[in-house]
This record gives sequence, C-alpha cells and structure tokens, in this order.
Amino acid sequence: MGRPAPGTLTVMCGIVGYVGAKPALSVVIDGLRRLEYRGYDSAGVAVLADDKLATAKRAGKLANLEAALAERSWPESSVGLGHTRWATHGPPNDPNAHPHVDCTGSVAVVHNGIIENFAALRTWLEGRGHELTSETDTEVVAHLLEEELHEAGGLAEAMRRICARLEGAFTLVAVHSEDPETVVGARRNSPLVVGRGDGENFLASDVAAFIAHTRQAVELGQDQVVELYRDRIAVTDFHGSPAPAREYHVDWDASAAEKGGYEYFMLKEIAEQPRAVAETLLGRVGEDGTLTLDEMRLSDDELRDIDKIVIVACGTAYHAGLIAKYAIEHWCRIPCEVELASEFRYRDPILDRSTLVIAISQSGETLDTLMAVNYAREQRSRVLAICNVNGSTIPRASDAVLYTHAGPEVGVAATKTFLTQLVACNLVGLYLAQVRGTKYGDEVIAVIHQLAAMPEKVEQVLGTVAPVRALAGSLADAKCVLFLGRHVGYPVALEGALKLKELAYMHAEAFAAGELKHGPIALIEDGLPVVVVVPPKRGRGPLHEKIVSNIQEIRARGARTIVIAEEGDDSVVGYADTLIAVPQAPTLLQPLVSTVPLQVFACELALAKGHDVDRPRNLAKSVTVE
Ligand code: F6R
Repeated sequence: MGRPAPGTLTVMCGIVGYVGAKPALSVVIDGLRRLEYRGYDSAGVAVLADDKLATAKRAGKLANLEAALAERSWPESSVGLGHTRWATHGPPNDPNAHPHVDCTGSVAVVHNGIIENFAALRTWLEGRGHELTSETDTEVVAHLLEEELHEAGGLAEAMRRICARLEGAFTLVAVHSEDPETVVGARRNSPLVVGRGDGENFLASDVAAFIAHTRQAVELGQDQVVELYRDRIAVTDFHGSPAPAREYHVDWDASAAEKGGYEYFMLKEIAEQPRAVAETLLGRVGEDGTLTLDEMRLSDDELRDIDKIVIVACGTAYHAGLIAKYAIEHWCRIPCEVELASEFRYRDPILDRSTLVIAISQSGETLDTLMAVNYAREQRSRVLAICNVNGSTIPRASDAVLYTHAGPEVGVAATKTFLTQLVACNLVGLYLAQVRGTKYGDEVIAVIHQLAAMPEKVEQVLGTVAPVRALAGSLADAKCVLFLGRHVGYPVALEGALKLKELAYMHAEAFAAGELKHGPIALIEDGLPVVVVVPPKRGRGPLHEKIVSNIQEIRARGARTIVIAEEGDDSVVGYADTLIAVPQAPTLLQPLVSTVPLQVFACELALAKGHDVDRPRNLAKSVTVE
C-alpha cells in the first residue's frame, strides 16, 4: 500500500489519561466510552505496571477492544491512557489504531490532530534506523520521543523538545515505562483538559471522560505541556517555563452525560430541548429591566462602532447563523453575512476593526471555525464566539463569548445545541439593538418574553410528534426526500435535510421554495416525499400565500407533501398529505419549534433503517481537522 500524503491519516479523536489509586484500565475504558462520540473507527489503551508497558488496540468500536482485553489477564496498574479514533483517510485497521509505540516498546503515545510535517520526520527517523509499522502521522511522535529520551531528563522534557519540531495541530498524551508515576500531555490547537481529583488526576479531550470522578477541571493553554502525577500537576510552555492554567468547576454532573433511560443520547437530547432553551435564557435580564450579557466583554462603544457582521460556522451551526441573519438585520439594521467557516479565509474577505465576526460552534473546537476566528483577529476584527463548551479553544481565541447552556451533547448530530444557538444569536441581536438604539427597551423586552415562552412551545411539539414517528417509519424505503422553506424556514429546511443525510444516509436536499421553478421542480415525481416549512400567516407579507402556492405546484406534479405549519392554519389542510402542526410563534422565532419535528423525523427514520443515531457512520462530534 502506498504511503499516505501528509496529514491524510490524521484523526480527531477521544483521548483519556489517568494517574491515581483506581485501576487505570477500567478508568480509561470508562472514559473512552464517554468519548466514543468523538470517533469510533478504532480504540486502544496502554497501562504501566511493574516498570513495563502493556498495550492493546482494535479496529472498530470500543466493544471490539473490550472483547480483546477480556481475552487475557491485565496487570494491576494506576497509570494509563486510551484513545478512540476517527480516521479521515486510510483504513481504520489494528496497526493504525492508537496507541503507537517506539522501537523499544517503552513509550506509548496517542494523538488527536494533524502532524503536517510527518513525512519529513518519518524519512529522518527511518534514516536513523527506526522501524515504523503503521501509516499514521502519530507514530513518528513515539519514535521522536525515543530519540529525545536519551538526552532529555524524562518524558516531559522529551515531549517539550519534540513539540517544538512538530508542525500542525495536535493533542498528544504519552507514557514511558521508565517514568512510571506520570502521564504527560501536550496541546496545540487541539483540545486537552485536566481533571483534578483527590489523589488522582485525569487528562481528556473533554470533561465528559472524567466527570464521574471529579468536577474540578484545569484549562490548558496553547503550546503547553502538562505532567500529571497522583497528587499534583505541572504545566509549562514548550520551553519549560511554568505556565498559567485556569481552574474551573464543571457545572453539570455525570448524569447529564448519561442516557438516563433513553435508548440513545439523541432521543434524550431532543427531549432536553425545552430545558436547554430555558437555561440559555436564564439570568439575561438585569435588575434595571434591560438585557444584560455578562460574558460579552465588548464595550458598548465597540458595539456601536460595528458596521458589518459576519457569522462563520460549519454544518448545523452554520444553519443557526443563516437564521440569525434575518433577526440581526431586522433588529439592528447592520448588514450581516453568513459564511461557511471552511470557505471564509480563502476568499480574502473584507474585514476591519468595525467588523464583528460571530463564530458559532457547539464544541468550540471545530478547526475550520477556529482558523476563521484566527484569520478575523489577524485582520483586527472583533470576534464573538457562541459556544457550548466552557473553556474550549474557540471562545479562548475570541474577544468575547456567549455560552449556550445546553449541557453536554453526546449524540453526534446536533439537536439541543442548535436550538440554544438560535437563542444565543437572538440575544446577541437584541443586545446590539439595545446598545445601538435600533429598538426601544420595551421592544427588546417584548422579544425576550416571546423567547421565554418558547420552552413551553417546544415541549408542546415534543408532546405531539407521535405522527412524525409513524410517518418516518413509512418512509424508510424512500430514496430521497426534499425540503422546502422560505425566509427563516429555508435554513430550517437545510437543517432538516442535513439531519436526514447524516442519520438516515439518504439523499436529502433543501431548496428555497422560490427557487423551485428555476430548476428543482424537475425533480418532483410521483410519490416523492417533500417536506415544506410554512411560515406563520401573520408574518412577512405574502410569504405565507406564496409557499401555499408552491405546495399546490408540487402536489399537482405528484409529490407526497409533508407540511409543517402552525396550529390553526387551515389554508394548507387541503394540500398536505401529512400535516404536522406546531404551536404559534413569531416568524423570527418559528425555527425553534419547526426544527423539532424535523429532528424527530430524521432520528426515527434512521432508527427504522436500523442505524445507530448516536454514532452515524463516517462522522465525529468534534471536527478538529480541516
Ligand atoms: C450536524 C452537526 C455538524 C456540526 C458541525 C459544527 O448535526 O453536528 O454539522 O454542527 O460539525 O460543529 P461545532 O458546532 O462543534 O463547531
């Protein structure tokens, strides 16, 4: 097999490290189980015992590794690490699984990210007689550590030295049989967080891995190395100087990251949406009755100077941005562009100090979005992050942050975090309108009251989705589903199509309904399911009647129409093969209710096809490679 191009076998994975009195192997496996949403192509562990390194790794889900572990007895150990992998290219086989070891079998390393100069390093290592047995970029790290361990006084110093030679983004965690008391980690543009316990410490890609043991977390900065011992941690930069590390309390407990009686996390997370919306709204109105965003960190003067907003995001978060544009432009009268983060910096966008860039990211780790943030800051624009994960990379790279309070989202498909992103975008739009005076205080508060009514409406939708389940079951054999919408209903349609693609692996496409006659209507044929999101009647001028005409046009050509419209909207009854009624809501807030049946539809259709909705094929929760 040919050698992969640099970066093609990189991963965006889940990493766990442990030092303490508990059996390391079970702590690590338990942590990996909670991180499996990050990647599930292969998994592996390494533990230290009796000055020896023991490793195991297997392609496939964690269950395969657990079966392999059960085949032999394992030494008692209090130091270990583990990994679940998401491979971008190349076979997710046993040799490519992590951990990777050096030639002497005394160093084991796991990695998340891309080592861009790995081909040159590999050639250099092979020239020095190292035998590399996998196709990954990661393996060079094990051998580089082996080289440095001759000279450096211990694993941490060796790690610092090799990090200075690595290009790209990476989290690395390693153990060495001659340093039996410690696990060493390093990070650059890739997540790694410390869990500080009592007589035990943890390293992980995400606090979910250790939340059952401790809720005290330590945030690591860029280009830092951490040494983890039972009773202390030491953080330095890559040059060995002590580095500051912020300690914080994780404000959700282990049960938030468990299924709580649901068969899938996704089902639980859909059900949690009313609470997630309510929590994101909590405490936003100050004693003086005005909207207050404590974490905003941008002064009112800075916000008044803004003459353009650019929203950057990927996937579902991008759809939240598309919806936000309507509200922000309407409320604030500032031009607002929405751009896929992966395209943003390559088109030479026009940015300056008076541009506000809003980066929306659930995980706060999406590399495309992070790179867009870095680019915007280089251009001296101000950056506001909307994020769900406290202390993650994107908020820290930004000037300001507004956290969504959705709690941990484990299912790979975004659901509750999408709704909370919509709420957060609304809050930002209203805050800007308040500061810039484009809306009176009472108008701002009136919208806040409308938002405050949304959790109950979402709850109502959840209570009436049984017909959506039945509908999904009846469409399990459909080849394709189309989605139509207008105004904010268009991004809702895009989101419905994305959910169906990623969960049910079906061809699904969304169109702005007005575009139908410019081409897509040719796709309509007998029996083709078409989901139409109908805006409220009271809303924007002739929008409603236009989409009702669109429904008639596709029905006349044989489409099976599935219509999402608000309760009491009789005008669509005659044209809907299936009518899904959602509670009345203001036009700009309707996505908070109209998205929910689409999430349920995609989830149930995927379940009807026998798919794992928490871990759809080829996907991972945090996309930490470009
Ligand atoms: C789809 C989905 C993805 C993410 C995208 C951005 O259900 O979850 O499209 O929305 O990968 O991720 P974040 O928001 O973490 O930046």
